[in-house]
Amino acid sequence: VIRGLSSSAVRNAAIKHVTIIGGGQMGAGIAQVAATTGHSVVLVDTNEEILKKSAKGIEGSLKRVVKKKFADKPDAGAEFIAKVMANVSISTDAASVVGSTDLVLEAIVENLKIKQGLFGALDKVAPAHTIFASNTSSLPITDIASSTSRLDRFGGLHFFNPVPMMKLVEVIGTSATSQDTFDSLLAFSKALGKTPVSCKVRSSGIPYDTIHYVHHMPFRSIRLHERGHGSKEDIDIAMKLGAGYPMGPFELLDYVGLDTAKFIMDGWVEKDPGNPLMQPSEMLNKLVAEGKFGKKTGEGFYKYK
Ligand code: CAA
Ligand code: NAD
Repeated sequence: VIRGLSSSAVRNAAIKHVTIIGGGQMGAGIAQVAATTGHSVVLVDTNEEILKKSAKGIEGSLKRVVKKKFADKPDAGAEFIAKVMANVSISTDAASVVGSTDLVLEAIVENLKIKQGLFGALDKVAPAHTIFASNTSSLPITDIASSTSRLDRFGGLHFFNPVPMMKLVEVIGTSATSQDTFDSLLAFSKALGKTPVSCKVRSSGIPYDTIHYVHHMPFRSIRLHERGHGSKEDIDIAMKLGAGYPMGPFELLDYVGLDTAKFIMDGWVEKDPGNPLMQPSEMLNKLVAEGKFGKKTGEGFYKYK
């Protein structure tokens, strides 16, 4: 981990109150896990309708958890869900809710300018002790943090989809992230019941951590398919039955979201244009242009309706 000399004068207490911006697949999943582990959570998105869908998604996921945990005790299960949901409140106005928060965790669209705009605005209203973190898949944390004046209290917390099931969290420090902040983010990840790993700052913009490996195979699979070497169904079957992957590469891309996958791929292409492995995919671009983002919109490489 590359961490610099700068450090905040403010010592961070344990993170108890969390504001999560973005109530999509990742934000809702993180909110669920944080609420389940006793944190007070405010989930923020752009409108009430999306937030209602987020809350419904959290309840649906909790029901799957309860089915196992309280298999023969339905009343205790219902009580568990009610208790977790009581820890979550919703808002469409981030600036008005960050006043008492220990951590602002962002899981909005994978777009640098939009993320910078959000953090730049919240930096002016959030308390001094509040840590900011991004769940970005591929953008350099340093670039996102540059929109704020709290570089020492800024880091990356990279969760994996589906958050309630995936145990890993990558904790990312930049050269300006203070040791206190980094330790708080590690402690928070553990308090969520996750296993954190420390990651080097993504200074080059090309990630050399899990996301690189997770997406390398799916991106190569798209190329194989585009060149006519195999159908998506056969490639998915081959990777599941021959390599033991829980999902095939096309299923995984649909699950992650093709919009997010395209943002990741475009970023890699831009940073490493000469690399033959990092070339744009016509097929992916076409699906995204048609609004086919995968499971979340009902169609991507496959149909889900
Ligand atoms: N909430 C609660 N429980 C869930 C759940 C959710 N969202 N999703 C799955 N589960 C539970 C199910 O209830 C089920 O429990 P039981 O076995 O006790 O019945 C269990 O998980 C298995 O689910 P399924 O039987 O439905 O399906 P599965 O065996 O295929 O498992 C999976 C589902 C865990 C998602 C598995 O397919 C998997 O691990 N897929 C790969 C996921 C992956 O690679 N994620 C990383 C994506 S990349 C990323 O996140 C980073 C980025 O920046 C883009
Ligand atoms: P998503 O499309 O499911 O959800 C994004 C949510 O953010 C939407 O509900 C949208 O309305 C909301 N939003 C957009 N701009 C906003 C703003 N300015 N203020 C408040 N809300 C806003 O996306 P996702 O899959 O949850 O991904 C979110 C972030 O997490 C991205 O940065 C992505 O790269 C990262 N990530 C995604 C995955 C994955 O597998 N999908 C895994 C790890 C990290």
